[in-house]
Amino acid sequence: MRVEVILSPDEVVHHDLTGRICVVIDVFRFTTTILTALEAGIERFLPVAEVDEALGLKQANPQLMLAGERQALKIPGFDFANSPLEHYGRCYPGGELAFTTTNGTKAVQSARGAAQVILACLRSAEAVAAYLAREGRDVVFLPAGVYGRFSLEDTWCAGFIAKLLPAEEYGDGAKAALLVCDHIPREGLVNSEHGRRLQALNLWDDLHFCLECGVSSGIVAWDQETGWGALVRER
Ligand code: MLT
Repeated sequence: MRVEVILSPDEVVHHDLTGRICVVIDVFRFTTTILTALEAGIERFLPVAEVDEALGLKQANPQLMLAGERQALKIPGFDFANSPLEHYGRCYPGGELAFTTTNGTKAVQSARGAAQVILACLRSAEAVAAYLAREGRDVVFLPAGVYGRFSLEDTWCAGFIAKLLPAEEYGDGAKAALLVCDHIPREGLVNSEHGRRLQALNLWDDLHFCLECGVSSGIVAWDQETGWGALVRER
């Protein structure tokens, strides 16, 4: 198994995803939020790029719920923002979410062309590592980053999962992510660039929730044919 980590999301165009599993990570907060919503009973989600696209989908299908953020804040007319705590402890009878966020949902769409697209966060890190080890394919981690740039928490999470894999070879990005993970304590991620933005909005509970590690067994997959994502059902 070869493992690579793309260090900034804009570099994805320079990587060949063919035949590989692409693991999209947005610890703060999209991949954490969608995992939590699906575990609370939401059946599936559709990542969309633009707010107007999401509003148009809702007009065509009023049952569809809308979730997302701009500047980390809830979008007017949407049902949910992008906080995992909106969903944690809830019990939905199903339902579909169209989701648009600044970096996370875009990163999912840019994983097109991979053999499989999996979404990971710290909460599901160990379960994702076990899943990837079982699948046995080459893996490319795609941190969602911040506006196309490197993000510490997403790279740290990629390094954490990469360390648990039976890798035969690590690419240069993966070697760098392993070092980031080894040298920065998990609690230190609260002071990453995006972490500080969420602190300024007083979203401390979200930060602490997103930094909990290995507490979920949920694997989230995105089907690029249909455009919808959902929890992977055990085979
Ligand atoms: C994103 O996709 O940029 C994030 O999930 C932003 C946020 O924290 O809401």
